[in-house]
Amino acid sequence: MQTDSLSPIPLETLTALCKRRGFIFQSSEIYGGLNGFWDFGPLGVELKNNLRDAWWRDMVRSPPLGPDGEALDIVGLDSAIIQNPAVWAASGHLGGFNDPMADCRESKARYRADHLMVYRPKNGQGTRFAALTGEEARAEKRIKKVAKADPADYEVVEYTQIAEEEIPMVWGPDASEPGTLTPPREFNLMFKTFIGATSGEDNVAYLRPETAQGIFINYKNVLDTMRVKLPFGIAQVGKSFRNEVTPRNFIFRSREFEQMEMEWFCHPEEATKWYEYWVKTRLDWWASLGIDLNNLRRREHGSDELAFYSTACADVEYKYGFTHPDYGELEGIAHRGNHDLTQHTKHSGTKMEYHDPQTNEKVIPHVIEPASGLTRGVLVLLNEAFAEEFVPKGDSDAEVLQAAPGAPTPDGYEKRSVMRFSPRLAPVQVAVFPLLKNRPELVNKARDLHNELRGNWSCFYDQTGAIGRRYRRQDEIGTPFCVTVDFDSLEQDTVTVRERDSMKQVTLKQDELSSWLREQGI
Ligand code: GAP
Repeated sequence: MQTDSLSPIPLETLTALCKRRGFIFQSSEIYGGLNGFWDFGPLGVELKNNLRDAWWRDMVRSPPLGPDGEALDIVGLDSAIIQNPAVWAASGHLGGFNDPMADCRESKARYRADHLMVYRPKNGQGTRFAALTGEEARAEKRIKKVAKADPADYEVVEYTQIAEEEIPMVWGPDASEPGTLTPPREFNLMFKTFIGATSGEDNVAYLRPETAQGIFINYKNVLDTMRVKLPFGIAQVGKSFRNEVTPRNFIFRSREFEQMEMEWFCHPEEATKWYEYWVKTRLDWWASLGIDLNNLRRREHGSDELAFYSTACADVEYKYGFTHPDYGELEGIAHRGNHDLTQHTKHSGTKMEYHDPQTNEKVIPHVIEPASGLTRGVLVLLNEAFAEEFVPKGDSDAEVLQAAPGAPTPDGYEKRSVMRFSPRLAPVQVAVFPLLKNRPELVNKARDLHNELRGNWSCFYDQTGAIGRRYRRQDEIGTPFCVTVDFDSLEQDTVTVRERDSMKQVTLKQDELSSWLREQGI
């Protein structure tokens, strides 16, 4: 677990482990890859599906109790990725879903202008030095080397705040001289495509940049068919696409990703209560997956960050290795007022009112929207689970030591890499081994056990190598339980279960194994 705040896990370490162990691969790798796209391998897809299923179970099938202990009503939806372009005109995405970008004429690099930090001399004289957020050290090095100055004599401003006449004085991060950056300009993040055989403007359509609008345009269908009453929610999980200017930090910001969003429709007078409820509930949910609360925080948006129609928005943030010691967004919970339903009423002509059958009151519900990234959630699970430790060799009862990145292995210890996924989310939950691969009676019994268990759990069979090495291989992919069939199994119908985190072993009767595993929460 990422418990030591002094040793963040480098992104390269996670990326390399993900490739080596079959979690996540660069998309189209054999053709040189494609920036901003990733493929989930056999273990990655299990982890992602487990996270998705946990969200669906805890939001739709069995939502939490409300603030007064009442049962909540949330229904599911799976809307199309390509929708009528009028949806995106109504939602404001066509007009305003933009990021500022700047190009370097020399290096041809493209930057998010709001991610470029410019070091400007406090006396206003001379070259300005730009660096991407997180890479400020590069600019400081250049200040010392080229300007022979002290970075403390510079103030730092976003590139979007730089006056036009200053732009020729800015030295871009990848340029060999100042003056190669273009002024910032707006760039729409929607992916465009064409419907049907002709590619004229009349056939233009867009890949959805969020799952939320699919919910708003089906609000009336759900209301008319499901007999739901205010307050209620509609939830959806699925792919979204954003033509990000600079996809960065592995799967944190990609161009194709998955979201888990829920729109909570409530009476306008109750919206503040529900906003508070959902912010707290969502942060608690991430903690319930085994994420250390010290690595999670709630960040309230300042008034300058809020959309004009929104009265409040908070992010659940996580301390990623690459943001450390700072935090980055994992989920946003927005109080959206009645903006979306009003916009779709205006643009489609379909009334989005709710008629209360008891009071006869007609209202346009207000919406609280917990919107999280499924792919980004996977990154959090990987980051949180990753640990390296020094384990005493042989029968020594010395303590296991936490290994700092790059630290040499002390004498008498060996290094162990382990992914401490919560057992219910682990891509492989149970591994089954015969003690020896050249004893058919052990192999047959282990294979039978594997076949029996895989009906209920995600299982892996391995008969190759010494038992200790098989344990280490499972530790590296985060398998919480390894079950060994040995000679006692043949005579007494027992199995040995070794637990990943404690590395302790217990002997169980084989017919008690399933109920024992269930008691462990899987
Ligand atoms: N409907 C509101 C909405 O889409 P958002 O903050 O833009 O809000 C919600 O997105 C979540 O989706 C984010 O908190 C993040 O977890 C995830 N997300 C957004 N853009 C992403 C990207 N380019 N790559 C991966 N995840 C992304």
